[in-house]
Amino acid sequence: MRDPKRVAVLISGRGSNMQALVEQPRGYDVVLIASNKPHAAGLDWVRARGLPTWAWDSKGVDKQRWDQALSRALESHRVGTIALAGFMRILSPWFISKWPGRIVNIHPSLLPNYRGLDTHQRAIDARDELGGCSVHIVTEELDAGEVLGSAEVPIEEGDSAETLEQRVLAAEHSLYPRILSEFVQR
Ligand code: GRF
Repeated sequence: MRDPKRVAVLISGRGSNMQALVEQPRGYDVVLIASNKPHAAGLDWVRARGLPTWAWDSKGVDKQRWDQALSRALESHRVGTIALAGFMRILSPWFISKWPGRIVNIHPSLLPNYRGLDTHQRAIDARDELGGCSVHIVTEELDAGEVLGSAEVPIEEGDSAETLEQRVLAAEHSLYPRILSEFVQR
């Protein structure tokens, strides 16, 4: 039985949002951390804490085969909510339809602005006054699902993509646990 309060977090890299979710379990439990990169830095942090991990290098593996294996791992941990956190792989339509409305993602822009990559540089180049981050439901169209919540971060004079990213990341770490705790009640 899938339980919405049992959350799996999917990462590909450093995993700072995953750490925020693990450390702020507000009405949900992170029961599995999964990755398509077995050497993702974030997994060291997870393993040092003895939390359950699932990792399989997706490089060169048939997409559906990989997605099916992940789905089985999620089922076996009775996961009901999947939180993407710096997960740099596009999930197949098969996987998304297997978990309808149960996959969320954090994106470093105020959606619907700046879907995709290089969000901070694009906001600076457009001379926007505000950057930020959004948590949204994952659908087949990239970064286009329902926005569940967002946080604004003012863009300051002289900001580079790196300085803006640092402040937005801090905002992500408080936004994601808060929105996820609301979402798992659905
Ligand atoms: C974050 O900026 C997140 O918004 C984006 O990828 C980055 C992941 O960072 N989806 P981390 O791995 O959570 O530190």
